[in-house]
Amino acid sequence: MSRRSALLLGGLGAAGTVAGGAGLWWTLDSRSSSRSAPVTGADLSQPSELRSTGGRLEVRLEAGAGQFPLAGRQAQALGYNGGIPGPTLRLLPGDVLNVRLANSLDQPTNLHVHGLHVSPEGSGDNVFVVVNPGAVHDYEYRLPADHPPGVYWYHPHHHGMVADQIFAGLFGAIIVEDPDPVPVSTERVLVISDTTLDGGGNVVRVSQMERMLGREGELILVNGQSNPEFTAMPGQRERWRLINACVARYLALRLDGQQLQLLGMDSGRFRTPSPVEELLLAPGNRADVLVTTAAGNSILRAAYYDRGSMAGMMGQGPGPRRTGQPDAAGAALATLRVAGSTAASPAPLSPLPPLPAGRDPDDLRTAAVAAHRQLTLSSGAGMGMGGAMMGFTINGREFSAARTDTTVAAGSVEEWTLTNPSPMDHPFHLHVWPMQVIEEGGRVLDPPEWRDVVNVPAQGRVKVRVAFKDFAGRAVYHCHILDHEDLGMMGVIEVR
Ligand code: C2O
Ligand code: CU
Ligand code: CU
Repeated sequence: MSRRSALLLGGLGAAGTVAGGAGLWWTLDSRSSSRSAPVTGADLSQPSELRSTGGRLEVRLEAGAGQFPLAGRQAQALGYNGGIPGPTLRLLPGDVLNVRLANSLDQPTNLHVHGLHVSPEGSGDNVFVVVNPGAVHDYEYRLPADHPPGVYWYHPHHHGMVADQIFAGLFGAIIVEDPDPVPVSTERVLVISDTTLDGGGNVVRVSQMERMLGREGELILVNGQSNPEFTAMPGQRERWRLINACVARYLALRLDGQQLQLLGMDSGRFRTPSPVEELLLAPGNRADVLVTTAAGNSILRAAYYDRGSMAGMMGQGPGPRRTGQPDAAGAALATLRVAGSTAASPAPLSPLPPLPAGRDPDDLRTAAVAAHRQLTLSSGAGMGMGGAMMGFTINGREFSAARTDTTVAAGSVEEWTLTNPSPMDHPFHLHVWPMQVIEEGGRVLDPPEWRDVVNVPAQGRVKVRVAFKDFAGRAVYHCHILDHEDLGMMGVIEVR
């Protein structure tokens, strides 16, 4: 048995404790009077906002350690410009975003603009850049004039440290505004993250076993707050920009008693917003949601989602890795109180322009496919007990920045089959070029769905098509359980 598989087996006891601890948290919750108990019920806050003017937004983002309010307590954490989340950046299609990243951490970092369709080269969205402690780096992101509106976000991407830095508070929202505004009474940015603080308010370091499972924090936070509250009048239409900034936690979101319509997922807008009851956001996914308010109190909850575990392959160890408990109502993320006199009905949504000749030019299902590829996401000991097959890999290989794994012809359309032979889900993310999901577990999706993070379920398979137009250069794809990415489940793509 290799040293690594010994480590895997040896870690199982610890993982049992982790799962038990999480269970305890759920049941004790409000009765707990320990110093680590979150303070709930505060007014929902919004991150500060920076908006482009005249086609440009210039910002300085300083990544630094300090005291931040988290879950109503003072925490020793990391943030951008003194906030968790960092400032929300609001852009228009065609804008230029200039970010001077100043690294005041005691470790290397860098910046990634997750989901933006921009160049990965040079001072663009280049994750191979390393910004050392005390250094600055000037990024310039040029959004095409037809950049899809939607919800995006930024976070560090220095391989090996991504999960730790996000868990400690380094993330923020990016909104690309609609060319035609959607009439709403209020717009809210809801950045959902999780973390664990010790009794002294420090972000905890997690075990190797938690990394392999994908860490889930004890605190689930919305804009750094624990179950904050906000109010509305009945009959209003609000727009919520939801971001799953958790390192590994899946969010099956519900808001009982209110009417939700999904305007978009990840990037772009649906032609018609569709009613939804439950929204599954894998780590990295975003949702653009309309909420039509009805009188009463509603709690935004993260319901149980079973994303599998590493135990199955060994026939022992911790039970399924879960978010919440199957029988519980789910974790309370935020509380909406709707009361007062009914508001005037909101202006109707303006329909998107009709498709040319009844055909969606963005539908890749009828495109000529230049290459078919298979990408296999493997984790843990699933491939056998041989040392080389251990760990977190794509097509059997751990990430190496020096190696190019996939070379694609610029301008072509490819079909990728993503397979996951492991007993836990892996959310697959491709930088720069959005994926069109055409098939999921043998089921054809009609219409296809655009995603930049697509969940590949345990023992499952997903087919996507990608149009490699607009940009060339080297970028990455990886599992967005960021512990898995840090452990090696990432590959390099070069478009040329
Ligand atoms: Cu949000 Cu490469 O990541
Ligand atoms: Cu990304
Ligand atoms: Cu993974």
